[in-house]
Amino acid sequence: MSTQQGRGTRVPEVSDVPVIELRDVHVVHRARTGSLFRPDKVHAVAGVDFRVSRGETVGIVGESGSGKSTLARVMVGLQPPTQGEVLFRGTPLGRGSRARRTLGRAVSVVFQDPATALNPRMAVREQLLDPLRVHGIGDDRSRQARVRDLIQLVGLPLSALEVLPRQISGGQRQRVAIARALTLEPDVVVADEPTSALDVSVRAQVLNLLTDLKDELGLGLVFISHDISTVRYVSDRVAVMNGGRVVETGPAEQVLGNPSDPYTRTLLAATPSLL
Ligand SMILES: Nc1ncnc2c1ncn2[C@@H]1O[C@H](COP(=O)(O)OP(=O)(O)O)[C@@H](O)[C@H]1O
Ligand SMILES: [Mg+2]
Repeated sequence: MSTQQGRGTRVPEVSDVPVIELRDVHVVHRARTGSLFRPDKVHAVAGVDFRVSRGETVGIVGESGSGKSTLARVMVGLQPPTQGEVLFRGTPLGRGSRARRTLGRAVSVVFQDPATALNPRMAVREQLLDPLRVHGIGDDRSRQARVRDLIQLVGLPLSALEVLPRQISGGQRQRVAIARALTLEPDVVVADEPTSALDVSVRAQVLNLLTDLKDELGLGLVFISHDISTVRYVSDRVAVMNGGRVVETGPAEQVLGNPSDPYTRTLLAATPSLL
């Protein structure tokens, strides 16, 4: 079906045209605390420029509430920006369902809690077949073959295809969610706190799986976390968010090794070094 399936064959390489580019993106949420007549507004994302290409890992780090998840939702087409522009392979994305569909195929997301991404009543096999059917890709035979490849790609046995999500562990469920995110051979995977809800003992395995897959498939990876040491460990570039803005951005070593922004310094000082 594609060149992406061979393990270890693709040389990762950062391509010139970003898969996604955000220009001066703003998102204003209506706060849950507001009243009908006087809605409070939350400026969750306040003028962010961002881009990601195939072959690179871009980390987004910031405290809880800094706007990371809202930004992630803009990147994957789940949240239209209140203001600003989203470009897909250099072309401004329209607002229609067609644009969302195009983006939805090329950019996928892994959430913090795999339970939210998976249907509790559907066997793993069906959950992996689903995106292929929805997008009309292949015939039944090639879909079944793709699903077998996917489950092995994320390090699970073929028998995992027959179980329901609750019959496997949290780490295994996150592997299934990652497999599902890879079903349509995306260019970019946006991983929003992908290990935060997992047992500490399996976090490193899931993290390594993601970074290995990124290398093998030449993906662009947007890795979002409040944990600065994890972000530093996996990222080529990082963006530090505070209050909806990117306060500092650049190569991971430079930004997190020698930060120039006072907020980044505070964030680093508050974090014990783990890795
Ligand atoms: N759907 C929503 N409705 C209203 N406010 C929201 C919504 N989603 C997020 N927010 C608010 O926007 C801000 C940023 O949230 P979020 O993007 O989830 O940040 P993070 O992922 O960094 O914790 C927070 O103040 C949060 O309460
Ligand atoms: Mg979040």
